[in-house]
Amino acid sequence: MRVLSGVQSSGTLHLGNYLGAMKQHLELQQENECLFFIANYHSLTTVQEPERHRALTHDVALDYLALGLDPGRASLFRQSDVPEVTELAWILSTVTGMGLLERATSYKDKVAKGISPTMGLFCYPVLMAADILIYRSDVVPVGKDQVQHIEMAQDMAGYFNQTFGRPVLKRPEARLNEAPIVPGIDGQKMSKSYGNAINLFDPPEQTRKRIMSIKTDSTPVEAPKNPDACNVFALYRLMASRQESMALEARYRAGGMGYGEAKKALAEVFERVLGPARERRVRLEQDPSYVEDVLQASARRARAIAREVMAEVRDACGLVSGKDTHR
Ligand code: AMP
Ligand code: TRP
Repeated sequence: MRVLSGVQSSGTLHLGNYLGAMKQHLELQQENECLFFIANYHSLTTVQEPERHRALTHDVALDYLALGLDPGRASLFRQSDVPEVTELAWILSTVTGMGLLERATSYKDKVAKGISPTMGLFCYPVLMAADILIYRSDVVPVGKDQVQHIEMAQDMAGYFNQTFGRPVLKRPEARLNEAPIVPGIDGQKMSKSYGNAINLFDPPEQTRKRIMSIKTDSTPVEAPKNPDACNVFALYRLMASRQESMALEARYRAGGMGYGEAKKALAEVFERVLGPARERRVRLEQDPSYVEDVLQASARRARAIAREVMAEVRDACGLVSGKDTHR
């Protein structure tokens, strides 16, 4: 099974990225052919300061490696190191109706948040479909906010195959885990741009303060509390063991425990899960050329697949005269 996913280099990665998407990526690398990339063409729709963009891109690579991406098993590359995706995006755009893109909820959300409505932002799902289809990906592990984009990629594969009369592109499937929408400290979906994120690799004290500031209701300490309506418990459950979750759940229901205690428990489990990765990240920061080597070697592998598929794509739509279409 070929697994593919991307993370934008548009800001500091947070717990929602890890629990919803990257954790799945790391698990899947054990048994599957995995391609993960830093979606820097996509983040160009929001980050347009070149030095900051370069730094954010390097940061995503460090984060993945620190969290346990094994470059011996999985590929980790920059999207822009396989420029063929932009060619496929163009070709897909010629078989895709405007109506499909006009229904994209993430475009509307982003424009409502003040992001400039460029052609790039509007066509974002076409490029994302190209990312997926160019590797003939079987499975795309993501958080729930990306499912509509993957459904669009399924549609675009169908439009292409139907228009050109050949089954060149493969229909991908989305994969969600138990954390499809991780809440932020205000209870809304955790997001790089909502000011509600708990970052993966802030210093421990800063992370603890952030966790202590999670919004809770005003139930008094003595009163029983509903764990299912609490953001602190929602995050705890996603990181603690089953037994730990059951024990904390019982304390919520029994009363006599304030939210402060639950937050302390969450801060501890956060440290246990992410502390070792933070240390690995500090070591990796010392070795930028190792990180660059991983990105480049991975890009070569990914690009070889992309070129083969593009040769078939070009042939199918009559852009070349014969079969031997490698550039
Ligand atoms: P992005 O930062 O938008 O590139 O997202 C990278 C991955 O993290 C995508 O698969 C998203 O669906 C996932 N993701 C981002 N925020 C959350 C969240 N709050 N809950 C679950 N998954 C998320
Ligand atoms: N749009 C995704 C996000 O914002 C990132 C992304 C770009 C992606 N191309 C992809 C994810 C292809 C999965 C597959 O999170």
